[in-house]
Amino acid sequence: MRTALITGSGRREGLGFETARQLGAQGIHVILSARRSEQVEPLATELVDQGIEASALKLDLLDPAGVATAVQRVEARFGKLDILVNNAAMLVGPAGVADKDMDELLLEFQTNVVGTWSVTQQFLPLLVASGHGRIVNVSSGAGSFWDPDHGLVNHPGFAMARFGDMPITAYALTKTALNGLTIKMAKDLKRDNILVNSVCPGLTATHPGTEGFARPVADSAKGIAWAATLPDDGPTGLFFRDEKQLPW
Ligand SMILES: NC(=O)c1ccc[n+]([C@@H]2O[C@H](COP(=O)([O-])OP(=O)(O)OC[C@H]3O[C@@H](n4cnc5c(N)ncnc54)[C@H](OP(=O)(O)O)[C@@H]3O)[C@@H](O)[C@H]2O)c1
Repeated sequence: MRTALITGSGRREGLGFETARQLGAQGIHVILSARRSEQVEPLATELVDQGIEASALKLDLLDPAGVATAVQRVEARFGKLDILVNNAAMLVGPAGVADKDMDELLLEFQTNVVGTWSVTQQFLPLLVASGHGRIVNVSSGAGSFWDPDHGLVNHPGFAMARFGDMPITAYALTKTALNGLTIKMAKDLKRDNILVNSVCPGLTATHPGTEGFARPVADSAKGIAWAATLPDDGPTGLFFRDEKQLPW
């Protein structure tokens, strides 16, 4: 049986939990993970009650020793990991260049870039052991250099230059860096048959009050689940939304 670990999947309304549900429905054992066990245990039980193979794991991106323990647990139970969905992220804001708090900026980079890299590095031996590893870095069009006013009209959506009214400058730049990391990971891990892609879920109603302008989580998670289950000859080192390639 294939196994998938989804980071930051301890919120019922979040993309992580819905991605886990969709992967679990395909017969994959899904490992829900969150900073606190109490966040994921009831959600894993809920999926098991729906006939999905699921388990819960405590995993904080900012706690390398705790991540090492999590790796040991997955190794002891499964001996490998087929899919890693790097979904967990931190957005503190909004704030622009002039008013951004530097401690908050560090926290966002520490979580979204360093933490994601560190977790991936620690789980790498188990992904290699899979023989068909897949890594999905859940990114955002907010980190894309693409300027929607100048070309590429086939890709409607948001990009870095579109966030003037609601500046999430630091978060957006963490996703730019994450996209760069995707390219580097894809290059380094190709020899181990591990495919690595960035996926923008699109604007999604994962927090109260966003339902009016953002789409349902089930729609957005589909593209993440797709990238997590690519065949061996599938793409790697690219950026997608809804299974369609996005410009960096
Ligand atoms: N919603 C959108 O419109 C949208 C658009 C583009 C991209 N995205 C991306 O989609 C992903 C999921 O976002 P979401 O909208 O579903 O929001 P979310 O539910 O808030 O997901 C983020 C999760 O990351 C977890 N997290 C934060 N720091 C962590 C850490 N140090 N260790 C482990 N987990 C940590 C949070 O856990 P706690 O509950 O403990 O805080 C939270 O459950 C994120 O990468 C986000 O950037 C979302």
